[in-house]
Amino acid sequence: MTKDLWKAIDKNYLDLIVKPDPRFEQIQQNCVEAGLPTISISNTHGRLFELLVKVMGAKSILEIGTLGGFSTAWLASGLPFGGKLISLERDPERAILARENLNLFEFKAKVEVWVGDAIHNMTEMTKIDQPPFDLIFIDGEKSQYPDYLDLSIQLSRPGTLIIADNVVRHGKVYNKEIESPSQIGITKFHDMVAADPKLEATVFQTVGEKGHDGFSFIVVS
Ligand code: DHB
Ligand code: MG
Repeated sequence: MTKDLWKAIDKNYLDLIVKPDPRFEQIQQNCVEAGLPTISISNTHGRLFELLVKVMGAKSILEIGTLGGFSTAWLASGLPFGGKLISLERDPERAILARENLNLFEFKAKVEVWVGDAIHNMTEMTKIDQPPFDLIFIDGEKSQYPDYLDLSIQLSRPGTLIIADNVVRHGKVYNKEIESPSQIGITKFHDMVAADPKLEATVFQTVGEKGHDGFSFIVVS
């Protein structure tokens, strides 16, 4: 019942105020047809990301974990002409699908999907003249969140916003009896945030069509 209520409220505000471009629905349909798990962010959270990009005046975004390009499209929607988004995806087939999905839009910004191991690609970025990103969205392999955080900080400037998805997972992160690689990764991630005086952060719990979950919002100083 509770979850049905969360879903109904999401749907109400989706139809009333978010009113997403129909191409977001098309992306979701393409992902389902391709057999991808339905684990992308929701439309209501996608709009939040778009608005954050706009209010920050972000011009460069890094995303870790493209999946079918759904969150990528929402983030890119907020970028201005001349903006740039790089999304990292390990699975080549998912990257191809994501590129097709992103091609449904005419973004003002340049949007690229890079195939390969995110830790490898981020490490390479730190060695070249990659300018710091304004916003980094971490949504890849949960066990690797500590490494993503370390590299994200290296690819940041004072004021960069780092957002991490799935930091609550129906409370699983706090069930100390079941230790999974994801749980260990997310716990260590927050211990690192806590120990770094350069990071100001909060965890924002969410309920909705995706159940009970949460995002970490971290600002680098
Ligand atoms: C999973 C991964 C995600 O990024 C997500 O948003 C939900 C679930 C998963 O691997 O189960
Ligand atoms: Mg996620």
